[in-house]
Amino acid sequence: MKFASIVIASILLFATQVASSAGSVDGSHETNAGTGFNIRDVSGTNGLQAFVSGYGGGGSGWYDVPSSFDNPATAHWSRSGWEIVGFQVPTTGETRGWYLETGSGVTNLTFFGFNQDIGLTRDGL
Ligand SMILES: *[C@@H]1O[C@H](CO)[C@@H](O)[C@H](O)[C@H]1NC(C)=O
Repeated sequence: MKFASIVIASILLFATQVASSAGSVDGSHETNAGTGFNIRDVSGTNGLQAFVSGYGGGGSGWYDVPSSFDNPATAHWSRSGWEIVGFQVPTTGETRGWYLETGSGVTNLTFFGFNQDIGLTRDGL
């Protein structure tokens, strides 16, 4: 396993996504485990949702964030290249995002809370 710290910056484009979000929660957004992001929350933040932009293809709906990477149907977002990963809690208005590159493998992203940095590990570097 290799560790990649590819956090670059946040957020301006993310703000427009937040403004237009209605909050989708059915959780069956992805099944392809080839490249992209696995996203989990270990902070236990109530009502936390995530989206991943679709510049390289894919939708940009908001989904509840699982506490593990185990189920690709809820944790995996099939993407390639540079994308914005955003988090929000609609009821409190908290938001935060990061602009990240996913390369030839899957980037595992762990959310630790709005006042913490994210954790990234990646295969295929
Ligand atoms: C990413 O998470 C998956 C699912 O838990 C795991 O199989 C894989 O080894 C992890 N990869 C890295 C680089 O952490």
